[in-house]
Amino acid sequence: MVQTEPIAFNPLDPDFPKDPYSVYARLRAEAPVLESQFGAIVFSRYADVVAILRDPRSSSDGRNSNEFKEAIKQGLINKEEALLEEPSFLFRDPPDHTRLRGLVNKAFTPRVVEKLRPRVQTIVDELIDDFANKDAFEVIEDIAYPLPVTVICEMLGVPVEDHVMFREWSRNAARSLDPVEALPPDVQAQREETFGNFQAYFTKLVAERRADPRDDLISALIEAEDEGNKLTESELIGTCSLLLIAGHETTVNLIGNGMLALLRHPDQLAKLRDDPSLAQSAIEEVLRYDPPVQFTGRIAKEDMEVGGSLLKKGQQSVLLLGSANRDEGQFPDPDTFDITREGNQHVAFSHGIHFCVGAPLARVEGQIALATMARRIQDMKLLVDEPEYKENIVLRGVASLPVGFTRVTSA
Ligand code: HEM
Repeated sequence: MVQTEPIAFNPLDPDFPKDPYSVYARLRAEAPVLESQFGAIVFSRYADVVAILRDPRSSSDGRNSNEFKEAIKQGLINKEEALLEEPSFLFRDPPDHTRLRGLVNKAFTPRVVEKLRPRVQTIVDELIDDFANKDAFEVIEDIAYPLPVTVICEMLGVPVEDHVMFREWSRNAARSLDPVEALPPDVQAQREETFGNFQAYFTKLVAERRADPRDDLISALIEAEDEGNKLTESELIGTCSLLLIAGHETTVNLIGNGMLALLRHPDQLAKLRDDPSLAQSAIEEVLRYDPPVQFTGRIAKEDMEVGGSLLKKGQQSVLLLGSANRDEGQFPDPDTFDITREGNQHVAFSHGIHFCVGAPLARVEGQIALATMARRIQDMKLLVDEPEYKENIVLRGVASLPVGFTRVTSA
C-alpha cells in the first residue's frame, strides 16, 4: 500500500542537506514506498531501488511521464517539437540509449582510463605543491574543482587556455540535474545560457577536429562507428556536454565528501595514510557513505509492482541512492564509515543499463586525490565545524572545506 505522510521527503527543506541520512532511515523504516507531495513515488530501500533500475519497464525518458502528456494536452509543450528534441543518452531508453552509449563506450574504455593514472597523479601533486608553503588549504577550490575539469578537458581535447572558462560553465550547469521547478528564475536563465555556450563551443571544436583529427576523445567520438552507426552532429555535441556536466561536479563532490568523511574519522584517515593500497576500498566506501548523486528517477512504461506497491503507467518514481546505500538489509553497520569494508555493492553509480559510464575515471581521480592528500599533507584538521552545502538537490557536496596542516611532504 502506498503511504502518504507521516514522514515527508522534501529535499528543498533548507535543513535537509545537513543530515539527509536520518530522514532516509525514517523513510526506510516507516514509509519505504512514499507518495511525495510532488506526486512521484519515493523508494528508499536497496532492494526496491535496484529492482526498478534493472527493470526494462523503467524509462529514463521524461517524455513517457504523465506530467509530459498532461503538458501537451494543456498546450504547454508542442508534441512534435518535443519529440524532435534529442535529450542526451542519460535520458533515453533502448534502442537509442544502447546505440549512443555503445559508441561512447568505445572511446571511453577502462583501459584508456587506467593509462591516465600517471597524469592524474602529476596534476594532484602539482595542485598540492601550489599551497605547500602555507598552513591551510581549501579542498574544493584547490583540488576538487581543478582536478576533474583539467582531466576531462585534456581527454576531450579542449585547449588549456579554455579550461578556466569550462570550470565556470560546468559549475553553472551542475544544477541542470535538479528539477526545473526547484530552480529560481536567475539560475534557470544562467543554465540556459550555459547550455548555449557549450553548444557553440563544441560545434566549433567538432568542426576543427573533423578537419584535423587529433589523439583525443572528440576525434575518437567522431570516428566511433558501430555497425554502420555514427553519432550525428547534434548527438556528438550533446555527448561532449554530457561528459563534462555528468563528470565534473560529481567528481568534485566525491573528493569533497571523501575528505570530509576522512577528517571526521581520523582513525580511517590514518589507515589510508599508512596503507595507500586501501585507496580503492576507501573510495568505494565514500561512494556508499556519502554519494555525490543522492537520487535518480524513472518512469513506469507499464503498470508494475515494486515493493508490494503498484506503479502505474506514466508515474514517476524517485530512487534514493543515498538511502539504498545505508540500507541495513544490505550493509552491516551501514552508518559506520569503514574504508576496509568488503562486499560493498553500493549504487552510487546507479545500476543496470545506465550504470555510470565515467565510473572508472571517477574512481581513478578519487583514489589518487584522497590517497595523495592523506600521504603528503601532514596533521590535517578541519577548520570549520559544520561546512555549508551547495544548493544543488540531486548532487550533494560541500561548498567549501578549509583544512589546516603542519607541513607538506615532497611528491
Ligand atoms: C563520483 C563521480 C560520479 C558519480 C557519483 C556518477 C554518478 C552517475 C549516476 C548515478 C549515473 C546514472 C543515473 C541514472 O541511472 O539515472 C551516471 C550516469 C552517467 N555518468 Fe556518471 N558519475 C560520476 C562521474 C562521471 C564521470 C567522471 C563521467 C564522465 C566523464 C560520467 C559520465 C556519465 C554518463 C555519460 C552517464 C550516462 C550513462 C547512461 O545513461 O547510460 N560520470 N553517473
